[in-house]
Amino acid sequence: MHAVGIVAAAGSGLRLGAESPKALVLLAGRPLVCWAVEALRAGGVTDVVVAVPAAERAAFAAALPADVVLVDGGASRTASVRAALAAITELGRPPVDAVLVHDAARPLTPPDVVARVLAALAAGAPAVVPVLPVVDTTVAVDDAGIVTGALPREPLRRVQTPQGFDRATLVDAYGRLPDGAELTDDAAVVQTIGVTVATVAGDDRAAKVTVAHDLALAELIAGTTGERASHGAPATEERNEPGVEP
Ligand code: CTP
Ligand code: MG
Repeated sequence: MHAVGIVAAAGSGLRLGAESPKALVLLAGRPLVCWAVEALRAGGVTDVVVAVPAAERAAFAAALPADVVLVDGGASRTASVRAALAAITELGRPPVDAVLVHDAARPLTPPDVVARVLAALAAGAPAVVPVLPVVDTTVAVDDAGIVTGALPREPLRRVQTPQGFDRATLVDAYGRLPDGAELTDDAAVVQTIGVTVATVAGDDRAAKVTVAHDLALAELIAGTTGERASHGAPATEERNEPGVEP
């Protein structure tokens, strides 16, 4: 199975509030996008296309390995992934069976997560997402912020990336998606054409860097674990097994 990676890195990072685009922000001295590409490669995905902010292409080219393909991203994550997907088709490389779509903003994603996604695809899943259980009590509120009820927590999951897809299925779904449509992830895109989405265990270290606190936490984790040294540590799946929270 030949899987290609897409890294969505064309966002500006408004909530992080850095001076450079979020994907170029440094974590332990290296841009987030470099961590994300390396995470895919460490998990077994060698060919990678990165969607970057058009105006920052030179800076991304300087930061990333020369064999990474860069494409101009779009105004939304959906548009950026769409552009990268088109580039895969145009590349004319050996037949691409599967596509893994990853956020540049998830720098410390362990290779095990990538491997689990690949294994699910190889076993025949047309779409697969890494998930974690919801540990907090989750409630709904009204416009005034008053709690209207609690949501049953047991069936809820938090969804991470990389998300894996049968290539033809993902291309078909994006092809039918109206221009300008904005969905928060790619599983939502294939669900618009009725594709079944499977799940594998995610990992806390695949958390998304969204606000300054997340970056500070990532710095701590990168520092205390010696960067990638702890990746592949045992008990990850066990720790994240849904339904074990009291
Ligand atoms: N992304 C993208 N193209 C966009 C918007 C987002 O490729 N037009 C990517 C981001 O670079 C990021 C991922 O999608 O890796 C997840 O998005 P998010 O965490 O929201 O990043 P930003 O959009 O950059 O941040 P913010 O929403 O705070 O501006
Ligand atoms: Mg965003």
